[in-house]
Amino acid sequence: MTHPSLTVEHRRDDDLLGIGQAAPRLSWTTSTDAAGWRQAAYEVEVSIPGQGRAPWSSGRIESDESVLVAWPAAPLGSRERRAVRVRVWGDEGGDASAWSAPVTVETGLLDPADWSAHFVTPDGDDDTTAITPCPYLRREVELHEPPQRARLYVTALGVYEVEINGHRVGDHVLAPGWSSYAQRLRYETFDVTELLRPGRNAIGAVLGDGWYRGTLGWRGGRRNIYGDRLALLAQLEVVHADGTTTVVGTDGSWHAGTGPIVRTGLYEGETYDARLERPGWSSPGFDDAGWNGVRVLDRALDTLVARVGPPVRRTEEIRPVEIVTSPSGRTVVDFGQNLVGRLRLTLPADAGPAGTTITLRHAEVLQDGELCTEPLRLAEATDHYVVSDASDGAAWEPRFTFHGFRYAEVEGWPGDLTADDLVAVVCHSDMERTGWFECSDERVNQLHRNIVWGMRGNFLDVPTDCPQRDERLGWTGDIQVFSPTAGFLYDTAGFLASWLADLAADQYDNGVVPFVVPDALGYKLGAAAWGDAATIVPWVVHRHSGDVGVLETQYPSMRAWVDFVVEMAGQNRLWDDGFQFGDWLDPHAPAGNPFDGRTDVHLVASAYLCRSLDIVAESARLLGHDDDAERYRSLAGEVRAAFLREYVTPNGRVASDSQTAYALALEFDLLPGDAERERAGRRLAELVEEAGHKIATGFVGTPIVCDALCRAGAVSTAYQLLLQTESPSWLHPVELGATTIWERWDGLLPDGRINPDAMQMNSFNHYALGAIGDWLHRRVGGLAPAAPGHRRIRIAPVVDRAEGGLTWATSRHRTPYGMAESAWRLRGDTFELSAIVPPNTTATVVPPNGAGEPVEVGSGTHHWSYELPAEDT
Ligand code: BGC
Repeated sequence: MTHPSLTVEHRRDDDLLGIGQAAPRLSWTTSTDAAGWRQAAYEVEVSIPGQGRAPWSSGRIESDESVLVAWPAAPLGSRERRAVRVRVWGDEGGDASAWSAPVTVETGLLDPADWSAHFVTPDGDDDTTAITPCPYLRREVELHEPPQRARLYVTALGVYEVEINGHRVGDHVLAPGWSSYAQRLRYETFDVTELLRPGRNAIGAVLGDGWYRGTLGWRGGRRNIYGDRLALLAQLEVVHADGTTTVVGTDGSWHAGTGPIVRTGLYEGETYDARLERPGWSSPGFDDAGWNGVRVLDRALDTLVARVGPPVRRTEEIRPVEIVTSPSGRTVVDFGQNLVGRLRLTLPADAGPAGTTITLRHAEVLQDGELCTEPLRLAEATDHYVVSDASDGAAWEPRFTFHGFRYAEVEGWPGDLTADDLVAVVCHSDMERTGWFECSDERVNQLHRNIVWGMRGNFLDVPTDCPQRDERLGWTGDIQVFSPTAGFLYDTAGFLASWLADLAADQYDNGVVPFVVPDALGYKLGAAAWGDAATIVPWVVHRHSGDVGVLETQYPSMRAWVDFVVEMAGQNRLWDDGFQFGDWLDPHAPAGNPFDGRTDVHLVASAYLCRSLDIVAESARLLGHDDDAERYRSLAGEVRAAFLREYVTPNGRVASDSQTAYALALEFDLLPGDAERERAGRRLAELVEEAGHKIATGFVGTPIVCDALCRAGAVSTAYQLLLQTESPSWLHPVELGATTIWERWDGLLPDGRINPDAMQMNSFNHYALGAIGDWLHRRVGGLAPAAPGHRRIRIAPVVDRAEGGLTWATSRHRTPYGMAESAWRLRGDTFELSAIVPPNTTATVVPPNGAGEPVEVGSGTHHWSYELPAEDT
C-alpha cells in the first residue's frame, strides 16, 4: 500500500493556520511496502473547504520532487483557506497511490492594509527605568449573530497572553518571542470560534516586558532596548452564518488596568500577588469603571510577519525526585534534571493567611548542599507568590519569565512541601523531534541525552548560549557550531529560517554580523566563526531540509558577510588583524581569558573565510548566479594560497601546531594535496595522543576534531578522545552527574565543588560543546546526508575494536523523505549493519575498515554482514 502524507512549508501538519506565504510550498513523504521505490509523478488537488465546487487539480506531473515543491495553484490572498491533498505514482508503473489525508492551510494577514487595529498602550506614564506591574487590557464585544468562524490576529510590543470570556487563547508561552522587533515583529493567528458566543463577549490581554523592554545583557544590562511602551495589537474577525462579519481591533476604546502580576522580568523572575486578582476581568460584565484608558501608538504595521517557526510551548512536566532540608535549614527541591522553564505550584487546601509569601529561587547547582546562584551573576531568577483569601488549592505558574535550573529553594510554603505540590514545566520552541542516537556505552548515551537537553534549554525562540544567567543571548558562534547537531535532533528549519531573517535584519550596512542575534549588544565588530553563522547556518539548514529558499532569502546576507571579511583581508587575502574570539574556551586558556588558546586567532579567521567563501560560491551556483559563483570560487582559491603561504610550512606543518589548526586545515580542505593531508592527519593524531586523549580544543576545534581524525584514518584515536573520562573530556561531566552540556569541562571540580576560578562564566547549560553530537550521528551511528534534504544518504559508520570500545550504535533520523536508520553491531569479527532507506531516496553504504566495497541501494530495509580484517583486532 503506497500512501503519501502532506505538510506545508516548515510547519507541522497541525499548525497550518495563519501562514505568511501566498504560495506555500508543499512537501510529502510516501509510505510504501515496495522496495527501491521512486516517485515518477504526482498530482496535487486544491479545493476551497466548505464549497461544493470541484477541486482544482495540477493533473499528473512527471517529477520525482516531493520536498518543498512550489505551490501549484493560484496564489492565496489574506485569510484564504485551501484544502490540499496529493497522490503519487511510483516509477515501477501501475496505479496512483491513495490520496493523502487533506491538510487545510489558511493564510494570515499578508498585507499591512489588512489591519484596521492599532497598537494601544495604557494611558499614563510608567516609570520605565524599573519593573512596573503588568498592564491588563480589555474590551467587550457584542455579537448579534452566532460566530461561524472567528480568528484573532495578535501581537504585542512586549510579551502577551490573551483571554476571551475567561478562557486562555492558545497555549503559546512568551509570545510573540524575540525577533529583531524594529524590522520583524511576528503576529499570531488563533482560531477562537469556540470561545465566542452570541451576545456579549470580552477580550482581555496581559502584557509583560519580555525581551522588548526588559533587562538584557550582563553587568546590569540595559532596559528598554527596543522601546519603552508596552502595547497590544489585536484584531478579532468574526464571520457569521449569514455571511456578515464583525471586526473588532485594538483602538482608543480599550481599557487598561493592573492586576496580580506586580513584577516580572526574564532574568528577575515574577511576583504574583493573588490579593490583586481581578476575578472575571476577561469576561463580559466585569466592572472596569476604575480602569484607565489606552492611547494609540504610532507604529507602522509593515514590520508585521506571520510566524515561521514553531511557537514556544510547555513540552514536559517533571516532578521532584527529592525534597531535602539543606544544612542551613532551607527546603531544597531536586528535579534530577537541569532544565529550562518554571515551576507550577498547587497550593494546599489551606494556603495560609492572606499576605503569606512563597518564594522560589532557582539554581543549576548546589554547593555544600545549598543553592549556588553565583553562576547566574545578576539574574535573580526568583519568583514570589503572595497568598490571598482565595488561594486555597489554587495552582500558579509564572507567565512571563523562565529559569534554567535543576534545583529550587522554596520558602514560606504553608505546611510541609511534598512532591505533589510542585512540578517543573519545561518550555521551549515546540519543534518536531527528528533524530535519535543510541549505542552500547551508557555514558555516551547520557552524553547524548545531555546534548538533547542542552538543545531544549537553549531553543527558546532564539538559539541562545545559555538559559540561566544574565545573558541568554543569540550568540552566533554557538549556533554556528551546534546547528548540524540541532538539525539532526529536531526539525529546526522553520526556527532557524526565522532567526536567520533576524540575522539579516540586524546585519550592519558594511556586512558585519552582530555577535548576538537579535542584536541586543550593538557591537559593530565582526568575528570569525561567530559572524560565519551568516553563511554556515543557512547552508546547514539547506543540507538538512533540502530548502533552497533559505539560501535564496539569505543570499544577500551571506554575500555581505564574506564581502566584509574579504575587505578586511585586503590585498594579502588574510584576515590577520583586529578583534577575534579565536578558538574560544580552549582549556589551555586561563579561566579569566577565554580568548587566549593555543591556536592563532587569525589562523582561525582566515580558515573560516575559506569555508564561508566555499559556501557562498556553492550557493551562488545553486541559485544560478554564475558570475558570483566564479568570483567567490576564485577568492576562495586566493585565500587558500595565502593561508598556505602564511600558516603551512612546505613540509605540511601548520602554524600554532595545535589540534584546532590541523582540524581546520583538514575539515575546511585547506591543504593542497594528499601528502600534506596525510602529514597533517598524522600530526593531529600525535597531538591528541600527546595530550593524553583529553580535549585540547575550544569552540572552533572541538566540534570537528573527531571528524578530522576519522578523515585521517585515526578512528581509534577519535574513539579514545570520545571515551576519555578525565577532564577535559566529554564524559568527564557525565561521570560527575551532568544532565546537560556545560560551558566548561571543569565547571564542577572532581570533588563536586564549583570551579572557583570560573564563577563569572560557568553555565551548566551551554550547547556549544555538545556539537560533537553531529559526529556521533554521522560517524558513530553512521547516518549522514549525502545530498540536500537527505535525497541521498551516506551510511558509513566507523568502528574501533579496541577493548572497551562500542559494540553497537544506532542513528535514526526522520528525513524530509521519511525515516532513515543506520544500525550496527559487532559480534566477534563479524560486523552486522542494517539500514532503513526512505522511499524516493538512495543510499551509499560504506562498510567500515575496508571490509567490503561501497554499495548503492534504494529504499527499504537492508542487512549486511561483513568479516572485519584480522589485522584490525
Ligand atoms: C557566551 C558564549 C559566547 C561568548 C563569546 C559568552 O559569554 O556565553 O557562549 O559565544 O560569550 O564571547
